[in-house]
Amino acid sequence: MKAVILAGGEGTRLRPLTLATPKPVVPIADRPLLQHQLDLLATAGVTEIVFSVAYKPERVQRVFGDGSGVGCRIRYAVEDTPLGTGGAVRNALAHLDDVTVVFNGDILTDVDLPAVVEMHRRSKASATLVLTPVPNPAAFGLVETEPDGRVRRFVEKPDPSQITTDTINAGIYVLDTRTLELIPEAVNHSIERGFFPTLIGRGDRVMAHVHRGYWIDIGTPEKYLQVHRDILARRFPVALHGQAHRGGFVANSASIHASAQLTAPFFVGHGCDVAAGASLGPGAVLVSNVEVAAGASVRDSVVWDRALIGPQAQVEGALLGAGVRVGAHAVVRAGAVLGEDSILSDFSRSA
Ligand code: GTP
Repeated sequence: MKAVILAGGEGTRLRPLTLATPKPVVPIADRPLLQHQLDLLATAGVTEIVFSVAYKPERVQRVFGDGSGVGCRIRYAVEDTPLGTGGAVRNALAHLDDVTVVFNGDILTDVDLPAVVEMHRRSKASATLVLTPVPNPAAFGLVETEPDGRVRRFVEKPDPSQITTDTINAGIYVLDTRTLELIPEAVNHSIERGFFPTLIGRGDRVMAHVHRGYWIDIGTPEKYLQVHRDILARRFPVALHGQAHRGGFVANSASIHASAQLTAPFFVGHGCDVAAGASLGPGAVLVSNVEVAAGASVRDSVVWDRALIGPQAQVEGALLGAGVRVGAHAVVRAGAVLGEDSILSDFSRSA
């Protein structure tokens, strides 16, 4: 059993953060996004993974290499033009064996992957999909199931009378690899709208595993901030590197002045420096090597590598890319998303 992670999208909704940093390697707390996926795959014993990439693949390769640094074997299927979710899996076929786990690279979840794989094998399905309930299913494609767990049909863009279920496709599949022959080679093809309906149409057994635990698609700034709130609140359990400290979590190499005001929850990553009288939290995530100057405050925000928050500056409800410099006394308010190396001069106001 091997896996394909779909990670070729441009991540337009997360711009400007994704202009320099492709989504597969955006930090989620203390590690790149796809590391969380590798951790989940490892729970099911999957250690050979194909990253299906198209946008800035060299950045992804620089972080993960051949996988030996993170305990697995990673290959790359690079697309010259985007092949869509189905075409991308088809493009990885040469690297796969009998059973393939497919992950949408944008999702974070605590699904019991070994149980999904077990269900797939026990039911001898051609494909097993993970479904998850959401409060607003109409915004997604619905997946209807039979009482025995078999998938009945997909309903794209349902109108109100068609909303018969609250479960949507969670973007995790276990497939009998032979079925991928159904996908035409080297053309753009959707796994959700093309491949699965074709499988069901020809009478294959397609099963659903409903996951009622944590699930999020981090593709927008709001959701990206939300997953960090969820990690800090332990709604999404991630074992962060570092030590519990005054109600938050702090990497061993970080330094926090004794007079800093800390309000749980918060996370301070490696190499960060929080100066005298600075105020952190609730909800501050300093990814790595961030400097928070004297009297500055950061709450409910995610701040990437090498950012500098100047003296007396205030940051709240914001996403700050790598190397951002917020000048002294500047105010960055809720909803701000600052791209890599942005500079806010002293006394600037973001809104
Ligand atoms: P937006 O531009 O913000 O919509 O993001 P996106 O480009 O990532 O698109 P979307 O969120 O719809 O993609 C869902 C997942 O499928 C993401 O993990 C993408 O990386 C991946 N994906 C989408 N299209 C392709 C594709 O053509 N090729 C590959 N390899 N992956 C894709």
